Amino acid sequence: MISIYPSLMAADQLNLEKEIHLLESHCSGFHLDVMDNHFVPNITWGASTVNAIAAISTVWVHLMIDNPMHFYEQLKLKPDSLVSFHIESEIDFFDVVKKIKEKKHRLSIAISPKTPISRIVSFLDILDQVLVMSVEPGFSGQSFLTSTFERLAELVEHRQSHGGNWRIGIDGGVNAINIAMLAAHDVDDYAIGDGIFQQHNVAVALQQLYEEIK
Ligand code: DX5
Ligand code: ZN
Repeated sequence: MISIYPSLMAADQLNLEKEIHLLESHCSGFHLDVMDNHFVPNITWGASTVNAIAAISTVWVHLMIDNPMHFYEQLKLKPDSLVSFHIESEIDFFDVVKKIKEKKHRLSIAISPKTPISRIVSFLDILDQVLVMSVEPGFSGQSFLTSTFERLAELVEHRQSHGGNWRIGIDGGVNAINIAMLAAHDVDDYAIGDGIFQQHNVAVALQQLYEEIK
């Protein structure tokens, strides 16, 4: 089943709770980008804000920070929450696996556009999701990188030939124009910022995205 997660960094920051309640029954949860102005050149929310949002909604947390495990340990997320760690950040992969399983969260590894897919192939079977970044991480509203299609094809080919229950996620520049093509490339989970929140009517925009892939 395909899942869409509106990305809250693109939402009206003074009305996050309102935006959540408006969309929650029509989406799989909300994508939360955590940035530290060092791993990426932008900054968003601390653990207290992430925990406050997680207390009222289903979340997919995307960690774009140095030392992500230190931050992760401060999070209070419900079981099954999805958490993306970047392969480019300093992580002890086996420590991440151990701690995330203890908390019964779902493990995602995010991969930036310039990192070869081969970096994550040996981990795939342990993951719940691979998050393919389709823009350089850091900002909403960037254009989708078309080189992403080749990267998706590489992953799909691997999943078809080796089997595996891991899902493919996409994040960056997804909109009503390209989402059908992404679905045709077997993407399962979509983080979408401006494609929802910069549209005239956010609820209608979300509905239109589902229409494109049904
Ligand atoms: C970018 C973030 C994204 C961002 C997506 O680094 O990880 O989640 O909010 O926004 P759009 O869909 O506008 O590219
Ligand atoms: Zn993200």
